[in-house]
Amino acid sequence: MKQLADNYILSSGHDGHDRLRLLCEIHDPSTRRLLLHAGLGPSTSFVEFGCGLGSVCRWAASQGARAVGFDLSEAHLGEAARMAREAAIPQIEFRIGNVYDIEAQIRDFDVAYCRFLLSHLSEPVEAMRAMARCLKPGGLLVCEEPDVLTIAAEPRSENYAAVVDAIIRVADSRGLDYRLGRRLALHAQRLGLEVLHADAYQRHFFKGREKGYWTWSFIEAKEALLSTGVRPADFDDWISGMTAVDLDERVLVAHASVHQLLARKRL
Ligand SMILES: C[S@@+](CC[C@H](N)C(=O)[O-])C[C@H]1O[C@@H](n2cnc3c(N)ncnc32)[C@H](O)[C@@H]1O
Repeated sequence: MKQLADNYILSSGHDGHDRLRLLCEIHDPSTRRLLLHAGLGPSTSFVEFGCGLGSVCRWAASQGARAVGFDLSEAHLGEAARMAREAAIPQIEFRIGNVYDIEAQIRDFDVAYCRFLLSHLSEPVEAMRAMARCLKPGGLLVCEEPDVLTIAAEPRSENYAAVVDAIIRVADSRGLDYRLGRRLALHAQRLGLEVLHADAYQRHFFKGREKGYWTWSFIEAKEALLSTGVRPADFDDWISGMTAVDLDERVLVAHASVHQLLARKRL
């Protein structure tokens, strides 16, 4: 079984929850549009891997789908289940589970979904293959992954550029692809799936909490960055430079572009 700790450089505990909540605020609207485009509705069977705090599962269930969310983090799943109980959402289940190692009874789903999971895995194509196995013939694999190299400030910020360079080196040193988003459709095609939709969007911010999302993520990834030889003093300089950019409403910050894939398992 592949271990979460191998490659996941962000927090898998309670201290990561506020950042994950912000991630959901930023991306849930596009995810919902994508899943509606995929035909999600009443009676859809929906399974999500790396569901984190479960906001997509809760929304899917609120549309009448039967939703199952898997994650490796007990802390995330506990919070996901708590929010589902509080909102009294029926037809939803959260379970501990590794995407590489999906239980035999998870079969014949209409939609298998993940967001910002595959780029944290050293074998993303194997994970996609495992997800496709959960689908019934004609079922849809839906994935959303970033291309981290597209994060930038305009006018250019050397601090943003330095951290993005450094995080790509972290990915290389761990055998990860933080640019996976742009290769999603190719991977799906090679797995024999029929690609129905491959597209990307990129959020941009002049101000607001959302603007600093990536700075926050890089702070959470500090240990991984230092482990590749980044000097603590450089890291601190970069983060204070990025924070200054985030607070400056004349500077536009482009988040990582997010690539969306919709691919059908052949009949
Ligand atoms: C960046 S978070 C994204 C969470 C959620 N998909 C979202 O977009 O809000 C990645 C999630 O994948 C989970 N994860 C990491 N490796 C995993 C694996 N091998 N199998 C299942 N989940 C995994 C982490 O615990 C974390 O909750």
